[in-house]
Amino acid sequence: MVKTLKALIAFGTRYGATAGTSEEIGKILQGKGFDVKVVNVKEEKIKDISEYNLIVVGSGIRMGKWVSEADDFLRNFQKEFDQKKLALFVSSMKTFVEREGKTEEGGICSSRKLAEDIVAKYGLKPITMGFFGGVIDYNKMGFFERKAMGFLKPLLEKDGFKEIEPGVYDLRDWDEIRIWAKELAMKARQ
Ligand SMILES: Cc1cc2nc3c(=O)[nH]c(=O)nc-3n(C[C@H](O)[C@H](O)[C@H](O)COP(=O)(O)O)c2cc1C
Repeated sequence: MVKTLKALIAFGTRYGATAGTSEEIGKILQGKGFDVKVVNVKEEKIKDISEYNLIVVGSGIRMGKWVSEADDFLRNFQKEFDQKKLALFVSSMKTFVEREGKTEEGGICSSRKLAEDIVAKYGLKPITMGFFGGVIDYNKMGFFERKAMGFLKPLLEKDGFKEIEPGVYDLRDWDEIRIWAKELAMKARQ
């Protein structure tokens, strides 16, 4: 019989995309026999992770920054992760910055570089890292943000993304997320 492992998915979101991604990862892990808790770290402060075998930490990225509560979570528990399986994922633009071989342009940062930086900062040893698209929602941006992000629309259209409703581009590839979560379930049992 497959042993039930306990998984905590701790995520930080500003615009909402990472919540949906976390829920989907949670469903896949549940289907693979994990007992899963999904927590928005902006709404609930986690005080104790001792009961969990697997910790998955996810965050949206904004102008090169993780959600501060997700960063705090990694900092607070960095020593305890050595006894656990840890996985990280980010929701981002899947940046054109990266494709052009850069790490930053106009405040937009490579999510890969940010993940590598946080791993180095806290001495983490994740078993896997996921780099997923998020949601670009112009309706949720303030005036200046909307202006600053205007350059992105033609780039998204060029990449084949269409508005799912006015001003909203959903860059999440659910198959990619599910495949990652299935592989994570396997790695967490190794
Ligand atoms: C103002 C703003 C700045 C952003 N900066 C970055 C960035 O530096 N790098 C990146 O890859 N994505 C960036 N994004 C894309 C977000 O990461 C994406 O919208 C993601 O869905 C955010 O996660 P959340 O919806 O869970 O908050 C930015 C989006 C906005 C609106």
